[in-house]
Amino acid sequence: MTDLSTRLTRRLGIEHPIVSAPMAFAGGGALAAAVSRAGGLGLIGGGYGDDSWLEQQFDQAGDAAVGVGFITWSLRKSPSLLTAVLKRRPKAVMLSFGDPRPFVDEIRAAGAALICQCQTIDHIWDAIDVGADVIVAQGTEAGGHGASRGTISFVPEAADLIRAQQAPAALLAAGGLADGRGLAAALMLGADGVLLGTRFWASDEALVHPRHHQAIVEATGDDTQRTSVVDIARQIAWPKGFTARVRANAFVRKWHGNEQALREAVALEAPKYRQAFSEGDPEQTGVWFGEAAGLIGEIRPAGVIIADIMREARQALSRAAALA
Ligand SMILES: Cc1cc2nc3c(=O)[nH]c(=O)nc-3n(C[C@H](O)[C@H](O)[C@H](O)COP(=O)(O)O)c2cc1C
Repeated sequence: MTDLSTRLTRRLGIEHPIVSAPMAFAGGGALAAAVSRAGGLGLIGGGYGDDSWLEQQFDQAGDAAVGVGFITWSLRKSPSLLTAVLKRRPKAVMLSFGDPRPFVDEIRAAGAALICQCQTIDHIWDAIDVGADVIVAQGTEAGGHGASRGTISFVPEAADLIRAQQAPAALLAAGGLADGRGLAAALMLGADGVLLGTRFWASDEALVHPRHHQAIVEATGDDTQRTSVVDIARQIAWPKGFTARVRANAFVRKWHGNEQALREAVALEAPKYRQAFSEGDPEQTGVWFGEAAGLIGEIRPAGVIIADIMREARQALSRAAALA
């Protein structure tokens, strides 16, 4: 059987080269624990930071060895969240969307692995510079926030740079990957594993409304787009350069291109957006998934998703080896 141990599995002491993305609001302790118990590494989505929610999620993860992820620019506003979470001894802390430097020493001192998610080659340089244990090259196909590089060329370019700099970091590919073909392809592009968001968003353990789950089962990869309107409606001021990939639904069609009008109407639109989100309305709020939606036909337990990905990846790699 094809051996899929990589620098990532050896570095983190896990069985499979699969990490679940720290998805704000959707990735709680139950999902992270299920991923870690199935042999990957599960990350709790620290998102914009809520200390009591984070405590609850770590409690739910129980004795599973999970990690946590933060949105770096947001963490700078409330750095005590990191201090509190490190007391729960996370296996890893992922930082994304901002300069990791202010947090690196504290994460290291707590003995957690540092994962830096990157959207540009400049970010990869930063991650190498701070000595990240794991670097994620995130392509634009990704669900949620991201930027503009495509996964297929960004990952090998990042791999080349990491190798040229003789950096010890393991590399994860992210963005548009959801099955064993994606894992096999990521390994061939020079990655040591994958970080999956959308695929685990569509799992039984994710904190996602059933109507939103139904929407992803029906979606193709064409049905998403990058936009800022979901952030305007949520009144979250994201830094320039990052947009969110969400389902291209009635809300997005109405406001994308009319951002100024949405800003002016936000006092009315923000509560409507939030209510539609909590009701699971698939049209009048942000439905957070990426292009991998087109590869997902069923909501499944995270452990089954991992077992299927590993089986398919081994088959794909054996087929490739047979061609050689
Ligand atoms: C619902 C959702 C929420 C996300 N929230 C975050 C987040 O809070 N912090 C973060 O670093 N990345 C977040 N991401 C992006 C992921 O870290 C990851 O890059 C992405 O999911 C990978 O692409 P994929 O969705 O095609 O698997 C989110 C993604 C999704 C789908």
